[in-house]
Amino acid sequence: MGYKVVVAGATGNVGREMLNILAEREFPVDEIAVLASRRSLGTEVSFGDKTLKTRDIEGFDFTGWDIALFAIGSEATRKYAPIAAGQGCVVIDNSSLYRYDPDVPLVVPEVNAEAVEGYAKKNIIANPNCSTAQMVVALKPLHDRARIRRVVVATYQSVSGAGKEGMDELWDQTKSIYNPTDNRPPKKFTKQIAFNVIPHIDVFMEDGSTKEEWKMVAETKKILDPAIKVTATCVRVPVFVGHSEAVNVEFEEFLDEDEARDILREAPGVMVVDKREDGGYVTPVECVGDYATFVSRIRQDSTIENGLNLWVVSDNLRKGAALNAVQIAEVLGNRCLKKG
Ligand SMILES: NC(=O)c1ccc[n+]([C@@H]2O[C@H](COP(=O)([O-])OP(=O)(O)OC[C@H]3O[C@@H](n4cnc5c(N)ncnc54)[C@H](OP(=O)(O)O)[C@@H]3O)[C@@H](O)[C@H]2O)c1
Repeated sequence: MGYKVVVAGATGNVGREMLNILAEREFPVDEIAVLASRRSLGTEVSFGDKTLKTRDIEGFDFTGWDIALFAIGSEATRKYAPIAAGQGCVVIDNSSLYRYDPDVPLVVPEVNAEAVEGYAKKNIIANPNCSTAQMVVALKPLHDRARIRRVVVATYQSVSGAGKEGMDELWDQTKSIYNPTDNRPPKKFTKQIAFNVIPHIDVFMEDGSTKEEWKMVAETKKILDPAIKVTATCVRVPVFVGHSEAVNVEFEEFLDEDEARDILREAPGVMVVDKREDGGYVTPVECVGDYATFVSRIRQDSTIENGLNLWVVSDNLRKGAALNAVQIAEVLGNRCLKKG
């Protein structure tokens, strides 16, 4: 006895990972439907040891389906999420469309699992931005101990955060650098991404920040605590998978670096790798395929009264998207939905 589950966007980076994670975690699935656009009709995707054929989301009847995991971008979500939700299927959405809607819970289960219970207002639950998800997993246990006043974060975000086209662009452009006859100008990104870094993700806002930076501010407040001040600089780097963050935290109370390390070691979803020696920290290639949010380089910031510096790394397609969505489905199943 399980659930009837839909994965929308099953041909994309996040959708494929959602299928992997549903299978890995043995989510109780009675029946599964995989959807994408008409372009992908019949495309095969893997679910555990099964191969499934993708169906067109247009015209799909969500009636009788329990949970739909959406990863189809904001535009398509605007069209299809209300249809699914209206037909009685709970949508867990990866796009940014509903994240700031007061009637839609924005959930990272390690931080605010109880918020899932507010799903019924719209039958929709939002999954946060990838950079926010991993940061709040690391910050929550420290906030509980010493109250965070302000966070200054710089991100180093992999190209998979920009979908499969982003990964293709890094791959093709990297090869073309060695072949002068094969010119690959930027398409998905605004400047060359191979052997470069780009301090621009999503559109510019009026105050000069980018939407990605604004998302980190707004989502941290909604998930963790509206009183926390956040300032972010979001940067795209030529890494395929895995987002990294240099995080500076100012607390209300003093928090010793050793105590912070002990707190993080016990925290759900966190893995501390922090030896002060060559290689005693985590880099993005090591976190690919993992569930954890890794924290390294934990150290006092002596330039402010109660400051700590952290290096936070996670697989953006997992904790930043697919894993978090499946964890939300698990909480929803345990607390709110009947099986079968
Ligand atoms: N990548 C990340 O780290 C990350 C993290 C958090 C949230 N997200 C969000 O997750 C969503 C998906 O991202 P992604 O990285 O998986 O992108 P992606 O690799 O480009 O895949 C996009 C998916 O959406 C489907 N799609 C696009 N337009 C559609 C339409 N009109 N109707 C039905 N399906 C449509 C595509 O189907 P076709 O193959 O048929 O085109 C594909 O399955 C986005 O909202 C993104 O912001 C991504």
